[in-house]
Amino acid sequence: MNIIFISAEVAPFSKAGGLADVSGALPQQLSSTGHNISVVSPLYSKINREMDSIRTTGIGALIQMGNEDVPFELYNFDHNQSDGPHQYFIHNDDLFGREGIYTLPNGEGFADNNFRYFFFQKAIIKLIEIEFFKPDLVHCNDHHTAMLPFFIINRKMEIATILTVHNFQYQGYFSQDEGKYLDELDAQRLVDIPSENRSSMYLGCTHAHQVNTVSPTYAVELLNIKELSYELHSTLNNISHKFSGILNGADYSYWSPENDTFIKHQYIASNLFGKSKNKVDLQIYCGFKNYSDKPLIGSISRLVENKGFYLILDIIPDLVEMGVQCVFLGSGMDDISQSLKDFANQYPDNIFYEGRFNEELAHNIEAGADMFLMPSRFEPCGLNQIYSLKYGTIPLVYKTGGLADTVQQWDGKNGNGFLFDQYTSSELLNMIQQAVKIWDDKKQWSSIISNAMEADFSWNQSAKQYIGLYETALEN
Ligand code: GLC
Repeated sequence: MNIIFISAEVAPFSKAGGLADVSGALPQQLSSTGHNISVVSPLYSKINREMDSIRTTGIGALIQMGNEDVPFELYNFDHNQSDGPHQYFIHNDDLFGREGIYTLPNGEGFADNNFRYFFFQKAIIKLIEIEFFKPDLVHCNDHHTAMLPFFIINRKMEIATILTVHNFQYQGYFSQDEGKYLDELDAQRLVDIPSENRSSMYLGCTHAHQVNTVSPTYAVELLNIKELSYELHSTLNNISHKFSGILNGADYSYWSPENDTFIKHQYIASNLFGKSKNKVDLQIYCGFKNYSDKPLIGSISRLVENKGFYLILDIIPDLVEMGVQCVFLGSGMDDISQSLKDFANQYPDNIFYEGRFNEELAHNIEAGADMFLMPSRFEPCGLNQIYSLKYGTIPLVYKTGGLADTVQQWDGKNGNGFLFDQYTSSELLNMIQQAVKIWDDKKQWSSIISNAMEADFSWNQSAKQYIGLYETALEN
């Protein structure tokens, strides 16, 4: 199949979250099964063009955006390998050559995000019209690319479309006024669409041949729990015949304690000596002076409400009382980061917080912590708990979405982690107390670790399911 895979972020070139990891790894896996894949994303200023051998193809065009003609140029990445996906970038420095991908440094979204991503998608359509791309199928991801199925159907192009939704929280609403950046043909079709549905995600869900999200449990929850699918609840139920969940995979060439180059002591399941040395290194890094035999809990997350931080903040004094140590890595909402800073000052031997993006520390937390805390209120898939399992860092999670699909409660014999299913801080604390108690029983704890490290969530299986989805879309 000729496939174009479109995403606003693609690792290792650009990354704001898990979408980038998936857009980096899934096309790679698909291309190793013999499909011809082109990945297209915007060319942001953080991407180092020279070092990364990213050059112009010489192809470009003007895109009409309201009364303006806005130019783009197509760049490609020369990876010097015979296999692997082709990587393309849409270049326009006014729109994409900025410090952030979606936001200003203070976290506020760019005012022209709809303009930027409409432009990006119209450039893709142009490249199909001039037959630079001749896809059998276009795979779109999240709302930044979700208008493409609508554009493709309006132009009667014979191309199958898939929309993968990594998070239903962001739906890409646009105003009546922003509708003027669409082509006449598309704008006319909007007349019949009620204004509350004027979102990229609504148009994507209703026009794509197949729609999926990134875990089976989140897919079921979206159909049943209105708060999770927001304004799209009834739309999703109307399209349930073409809606499914496919669990993300993990890239174990990058996230595995055996070959992780960010950590000092590599280790394998049958010999965890390296893990205990990594723990001491991490305690030293955090400035903890107390090495008593207590568990160290790690957290790597954006600091937002739905990742469970208000529950965590409630119980930090209890955790300190129990003698556990916690290391938090991540940036986000000011009030949450301020509280974490305050706790770190108040309890310097138990709480550590670092608020900047630090890939090396992320790997060292996975490798050095005993447990990984991820009490998300909802979680489309989640990747860090999957990485944690591979590092024998036992996940402590809320029973939801992809967390419920990857973590099984330890029952004395089976299971690879701990879950709570009432979303309150006291239930979160109960779960942690239970885990800490079992941690003291070294025999049980080592069984949990070996169950965790055995789990295999490589892309192989999921890529096969995507190919199945592509085939269904093509038949449709
Ligand atoms: C989003 C979701 C996360 C998922 C990732 C990749 O970031 O919030 O749960 O793992 O996308 O699909």
